[in-house]
Amino acid sequence: MSTEATKTEVGSYFISNYPPFSQWTSDAIGDLQAALARPAGSTSQGALQNSSEGTGVPPLGLYLHIPFCRKRCKFCYFKVFTNVNAESIERYVSALCQEISLVARQPIMQGRQFRFVYFGGGTPSFLSVKQLQSLLERLHQYVTWDGAEEVTFECEPGTLSEPKVKALRDLGVTRLSLGVENFSDAILEENGRAHLSKEVFRAWEWIQAAAFPNVNIDLISGMVGETWDNWRENIRRTLELSPESVTIYQMELPFNTVYSKGLLQTQGDSPVADWQTKRDWVRYAFEVFQENGYSISSAYTVVKDPKKVSFSYRDNLWRGSDLLATGIASFGHVGGVHYQNVPEWDRYLGMILDENTLPLGRAYTPTKHQMLIREMILQLKKGWLDLSYFKEKFDTNIFEQWRDVWDGYANEGYAVLPESDVAPGSQIRLTTEGLLRVDGLLPAFFEPQFRNVRYT
Ligand SMILES: C[S@@+](CC[C@H](N)C(=O)[O-])C[C@H]1O[C@@H](n2cnc3c(N)ncnc32)[C@H](O)[C@@H]1O
Ligand code: SF4
Repeated sequence: MSTEATKTEVGSYFISNYPPFSQWTSDAIGDLQAALARPAGSTSQGALQNSSEGTGVPPLGLYLHIPFCRKRCKFCYFKVFTNVNAESIERYVSALCQEISLVARQPIMQGRQFRFVYFGGGTPSFLSVKQLQSLLERLHQYVTWDGAEEVTFECEPGTLSEPKVKALRDLGVTRLSLGVENFSDAILEENGRAHLSKEVFRAWEWIQAAAFPNVNIDLISGMVGETWDNWRENIRRTLELSPESVTIYQMELPFNTVYSKGLLQTQGDSPVADWQTKRDWVRYAFEVFQENGYSISSAYTVVKDPKKVSFSYRDNLWRGSDLLATGIASFGHVGGVHYQNVPEWDRYLGMILDENTLPLGRAYTPTKHQMLIREMILQLKKGWLDLSYFKEKFDTNIFEQWRDVWDGYANEGYAVLPESDVAPGSQIRLTTEGLLRVDGLLPAFFEPQFRNVRYT
């Protein structure tokens, strides 16, 4: 994340929430427990109800974290475990089901349906067909997602088989997201990926045959070893597959990756391309995808047919929905309170299976102003902000409130400002240059006390 810094240094990060995770504490867990114990739609004093439809009850999503991977990629910063035996996986799946049975009983859950479901990781597709079927059978004793408009499932290509892909469709997955990252076997190997390109092509046939409404491909701009020639080839091959959407991340080096740890030890030069080069690669990809009929849907995503494909998880989350987070180290937001589950394996399993308690680790109750900042910085990742949305929901004119920041971004060529900030439909828009560095533009909206703190 950077506007000006040229090198990709250790410690860069991707902004996905506000206030920063480092500010969440175990002291606030009581607030979360109180929120869970209230019926949906009622709030504690000062908390903001994020109803988008005037019902008083915000949309609700379910996130399930499956933390297993075949190998740890050298760039990855997620909570993952490798070399886990079948018995431990079974214990984890049992804990996850029990966790869901515990939350399903909470007053805040009563009478609510899941609008969207997200199996993330780690690698959810690491689970076998049998493990998946058993997980879902057990989960459906406590919750259903019959009414959900989107069920996403993240996959690593080499973990897929034809029966597994079919099973995912039969189990109700509507959006399959495939971690391709790159098509060069040398680059995949260098970066510690467990799969090679032939596994992508093999899996693609099964995925096409299963007819998911939406298939997304993940790519990373700036894998170690990336070159212009290879990047052009990545985009050409992705277009050939013609997925409904493509997500392109710019490589970050947070502190906990294998590459970052090595760099901190050796004090050597970053092996990752500088920010300008990574942005040039994404700009090139955006241009070529647009020439081929795709539209830009956010700083990271292009979509083939915006009328057909929506992003329920992303769009609801960025408009302040509730997200019930389950699984080790998961992040969620319920009843006006942010929270994260405990990240330690033994503690997560022990709290659920031995103590029959929710594995809550840390929490934070944002103020109304902090919820406004959170929604504004997340929605800015789409490239535009609707002024009337913020006026209606937060009674704030975000253009006036941060006028100096917007003027600065407009002068630098990153933003286009509205002629009137009160006319219906008025928007603040980012230029492509702004969109390509959006994560670097966001800390300027943070409250002063959070500007120089560690993010995670
Ligand atoms: C949970 S993984 C997706 C599923 C599966 N684990 C896989 O990798 O195929 C989510 C995505 O995060 C992205 N990612 C992981 N580490 C990253 C980093 N350091 N910088 C940018 N993107 C990263 C990758 O594109 C990856 O596909
Ligand atoms: S990028 Fe995906 S496969 Fe690689 S370690 Fe991270 S979660 Fe696992």
